[in-house]
Amino acid sequence: MAVDLTTQYLGLGLRNPLIVGASSLTLTADAIRRCEAAGAGAVVVKSLFEEQIRLDSADLQDAVADQSAWHAEVFEYMEADLGMRYGARDYLDIIRQARDSVDIPVIASINCVSDEWWCEFAQEVEAAGADALELNIALAPASLDVTGAELECQYERIVIKAREQVSLPLAVKLGPWFTSLPQTVLRLQRAGADGFVLFNRFYCPTIDPEKLEVVAASAFSSPAELSLPLRWISLFADRVAADFAGATGVHSGLDAVRLLLAGAHAVQVVSALYLNGLEHLQKMLDEITAWMEQKKHGAVKDFRGMLSQARNPDRELFGRLQYIKGLVGIE
Ligand SMILES: Cc1cc2nc3c(=O)[nH]c(=O)nc-3n(C[C@H](O)[C@H](O)[C@H](O)COP(=O)(O)O)c2cc1C
Repeated sequence: MAVDLTTQYLGLGLRNPLIVGASSLTLTADAIRRCEAAGAGAVVVKSLFEEQIRLDSADLQDAVADQSAWHAEVFEYMEADLGMRYGARDYLDIIRQARDSVDIPVIASINCVSDEWWCEFAQEVEAAGADALELNIALAPASLDVTGAELECQYERIVIKAREQVSLPLAVKLGPWFTSLPQTVLRLQRAGADGFVLFNRFYCPTIDPEKLEVVAASAFSSPAELSLPLRWISLFADRVAADFAGATGVHSGLDAVRLLLAGAHAVQVVSALYLNGLEHLQKMLDEITAWMEQKKHGAVKDFRGMLSQARNPDRELFGRLQYIKGLVGIE
């Protein structure tokens, strides 16, 4: 049985739901071509960080050495991606070259913490031919003085500003740490976001007790991390008028199926491709196809959202936080 893997995400037609997420796997036009050849449904180009828009590439080399000038996430990615020492002009060239040489959607990505610096650049990204813009908003609530309400206003200001700059489809990539994520997502959707990438995976430091140093833990996710995006996408799908891409912890075709059942329109994959190579994409597509054949689903749209809360209003699904059922019988 031939199955139809196509999906719609941010108004874009994808040949399948697997998006290679922002990382050095999408750092250059060549790398993006390799993602397409390996079977990706779309790519998110490696993020340009708002710090990079302020500096030109010549200054970047020096700036990278001075890590105090960067917010933690930038530095983590700078260290992880040593090739990533380009400036804003190079970024636009990559978008143009990729747009000219691949058929799959090319989604640009800007990592920002303010509503300055990058705004005019967003227009240039649109002019360069990007099919959509993903805003990776990386505001860390580390201050003892800033309230949650103030931070949420900043998120909103960023989205409003981006919406004013571009008519491109706009996705917002968020971390999970909000007191009321549903209210924040709704507010950002009303501010102009067409979709959400849930979730970003931030810098994960740990402590080396031997060296008495704070060190970076694994840059890669584990499949256990999937439960967070699964839960929230199941709660939002078909309730918030936006598209959702599941991200963090997608390591197999069945993980992708899980997110689609919860209501995701697409899924982003990064760690699994670093760990297993780009050829892992085809394995994941084969797994999705085999599952669809076994369950007799001819198309992704036939089962997408089957296990969302909106489609199952009388069932608890992911609404409950405590373990009551799971804990019975555990001593
Ligand atoms: C080496 C590396 C570089 C990354 N660079 C970016 C980036 O530039 N922008 C971004 O939004 N996310 C970046 N990410 C995060 C990924 O896009 C993704 O959200 C995260 O790894 C979780 O997905 P996964 O579980 O499939 O790895 C990076 C991740 C890694 C491992």
